Amino acid sequence: MTPAPKDVTISREDGVAIITISRPDKKNALTGAMYDAMTAVLSQSQNETAIGAVVITGTDGVFTAGNDINDFLAYRDDMSASPGLRFIKALARFEKPMVAAVDGLAIGIGTTMLLHCDLVYASPSAVLKIPFVDLGLTPEGASSVLLPRRCGMARASELLLLGEAISAERAERFGLVNAIVPAAELREHAVAKAKELSMKPQKALAATRRMLRGDPAELTLVMDKEGQEFATRLTMPEARAAFLAFVNKDKPA
Ligand code: COA
Repeated sequence: MTPAPKDVTISREDGVAIITISRPDKKNALTGAMYDAMTAVLSQSQNETAIGAVVITGTDGVFTAGNDINDFLAYRDDMSASPGLRFIKALARFEKPMVAAVDGLAIGIGTTMLLHCDLVYASPSAVLKIPFVDLGLTPEGASSVLLPRRCGMARASELLLLGEAISAERAERFGLVNAIVPAAELREHAVAKAKELSMKPQKALAATRRMLRGDPAELTLVMDKEGQEFATRLTMPEARAAFLAFVNKDKPA
């Protein structure tokens, strides 16, 4: 596989590709290069018959603090070239099973990417949070459609409007997490489930997955529409004030 930047490590175990987000000094915040590395793994795994499933995980105690806020600040005017958008679209189109192992914080795209995973396991300390509105932003990753579909409008509003942080237990009740697994067993558990999936009859599995997930083209259209709004917001004063407050440590983002 293509070498990844040091902040994303790729390993393989018995037909499973494992993506580990590993930028612990920045709480695993995702940069363009990190998104590109993860998109490349999806594309390579798609074409490699030896790979039957992919696991995505973070480092101990943190899944990801979401998009790097410095990259939001640096954004100028071309959302279609956004590595984050490319990654989340690749995830929506990916035709093999995806399993997530979430320990600690899963913020912003850290939560929205889970909506595109087939199975999500979380440690008891996992916290999911989508603070887009507080950052002067709007939903991405088709979360404006997938969240209400998955957990109902009332809960989606708590997540997307209030930006409430939810515990692993609440996330399980919301239907965003399959099971809570002790942190020490989390990675192994997710990999075992991915292996289990990778050993199923592949054509039946793929067809069932398509039925469950619907047409990815519909989701990518939603992503493009959300992306236009998101791009407009990124350059507006209320968003820039929130980003600057975070990078200048004036107050939490
Ligand atoms: N983008 C860029 N840098 C980030 C980051 C992000 N999304 N999240 C954390 N970091 C960096 C911090 O700037 C800090 O860097 P520094 O040590 O060079 O100052 C480092 O990671 C540690 O973060 P810190 O805030 O000191 O840790 P904490 O434990 O007090 O808080 C968070 C952790 C994740 C709650 C907090 O960093 C945060 O709110 N991050 C922003 C989350 C966010 O809004 N993401 C965007 C979603 S759209």
